[in-house]
Amino acid sequence: MMKSRKPNSLHIRLYGDKTLREVAKPITEFTDEVKNFIDDLTFTMYEKDGVGLAAPQVGRSLRIFVVDPFWFANEGKKNPLVLVNPEFKEFKGEVESDEGCLSLPGIFEPVHRAERVIIEGLNGKGKKVRYETDGLFARALQHEYDHLDGILFVDKVTKLKRIFLKKKLNDIQNTTDKNGKNIGELLL
Ligand code: NI
Repeated sequence: MMKSRKPNSLHIRLYGDKTLREVAKPITEFTDEVKNFIDDLTFTMYEKDGVGLAAPQVGRSLRIFVVDPFWFANEGKKNPLVLVNPEFKEFKGEVESDEGCLSLPGIFEPVHRAERVIIEGLNGKGKKVRYETDGLFARALQHEYDHLDGILFVDKVTKLKRIFLKKKLNDIQNTTDKNGKNIGELLL
């Protein structure tokens, strides 16, 4: 049967938003609401030209993320990978590379990550999945997983870099409203 629902574009929460700092809750049931949310999350990732997007980045404190690290390289051919309640089973090696984040516009800094990972979880339909991967894919998984624990990549840069980034971070944080929501405009 054809799906009739059109996915919605969701607001990206920016640095300073309180949801970005919460430890997200696991999914216990694959309700229609959860499935629709996953569609919206995926739609929003592509719409914002992202290679990954985690639920807390759109203001939902849930252990769900989507990644597609290769859609630019694949001439826009989309292959979204949804992970629900993910868990890393193994980390191997270490590698440093630049990262960015839709919640931290204009900031790109090198971050140390494991070179190779094994991750398990559920896909968007609630089926068990397991991936063993390296390179950009492994990096994207680690970056998005961090969002589920309230961690941002700027937490992992050197102290010196963080001092250097302070003004940029403050400028983004300053658009947070009085309820702790930051979608980049003052709502006061
Ligand atoms: Ni991010």
